[in-house]
Amino acid sequence: MTERRKIIIDTDPGQDDAAALMLAFASPDEVEILGICTVAGNVPLKLTSRNARIICELCNRTDISVYEGADRPIKRQLVTAEHVHGKTGLDGAVLDEPTMKVMPQHAVDFIIETLRREPEGSVTLCTLGPLTNIGMALTKAPDIAPRIRELVLMGGGFFEGGNITPAAEFNIYVDPQAADIVFRAGIPLIMMPLDVTHQLMTTKARVSRLAAIGSRPAMVMVDWLAFFERFDEEKYGSDGGPLHDPTVIAYLLKPELFSGRHCNVEIETQSELTVGMTVVDWWRVSKRAPNTRVMRHVDADGFFDLLIERFARL
Ligand code: RIB
Ligand code: CA
Repeated sequence: MTERRKIIIDTDPGQDDAAALMLAFASPDEVEILGICTVAGNVPLKLTSRNARIICELCNRTDISVYEGADRPIKRQLVTAEHVHGKTGLDGAVLDEPTMKVMPQHAVDFIIETLRREPEGSVTLCTLGPLTNIGMALTKAPDIAPRIRELVLMGGGFFEGGNITPAAEFNIYVDPQAADIVFRAGIPLIMMPLDVTHQLMTTKARVSRLAAIGSRPAMVMVDWLAFFERFDEEKYGSDGGPLHDPTVIAYLLKPELFSGRHCNVEIETQSELTVGMTVVDWWRVSKRAPNTRVMRHVDADGFFDLLIERFARL
């Protein structure tokens, strides 16, 4: 049993973000969710904030506070991904508009205030979207960096390349300046790149196990996945699509599912050809100091066993 962690989840829902949030909701013995922060990414901020609250209400977790963050990247123009997630960001299932409200405090200020209040080294940041809120918080309050226990992020790619350009994964591509700030801040980083998430395909066999749970949250997730995976099935000709964001929460629940290497990662922010690329020194050919534990392998069956076991609790 891993120890119970205090976490802040920063997210741009997104059907796969929803799976990550629901996995966290189903794991109260391992994670205490201090708050959910929304950011512009898959869809604009107003929709990611709407979607986060829809997911909370779907799982009867309106006790969790949702804080709205940045509506655009630090420097670049916002790039969204409706082509993957649909116009609402949660296409595939039709749910009521949320009634719970967002908190009045800006997500960046919530992150700063929480890290200053909680004991040093007791809060883990879990990022599922562009790193804009974290980059802004570190710029506004550099003193919080040493107070962060770990930052576990879904983002980047190396041998697997990119998914929004040949070189860049979407979360890093949307806000490379924010990612650069985060990767240079000296925070203990755990990176879940496409090299891991592309091993986690929502195959028909796995989705049917989820459907067999029969609960409303499980059935809604099945509908969301049916929409979300069609893009990757067309793109890769695969059985299902890669399930990206729940890797971040699964790491907190069963870290032994993953293996990787501590190495240097830097972010390309200049070249238009490769902007947003995570330059991973996997073979340590540079003299740059390791700053990230980059995951490369995952026990895919163990991951889905965990996901389905936890979804059955919702
Ligand atoms: O590249 C995959 C990432 O981009 C996931 O977090 C997905 O939700 C999108 O935000
Ligand atoms: Ca996401």
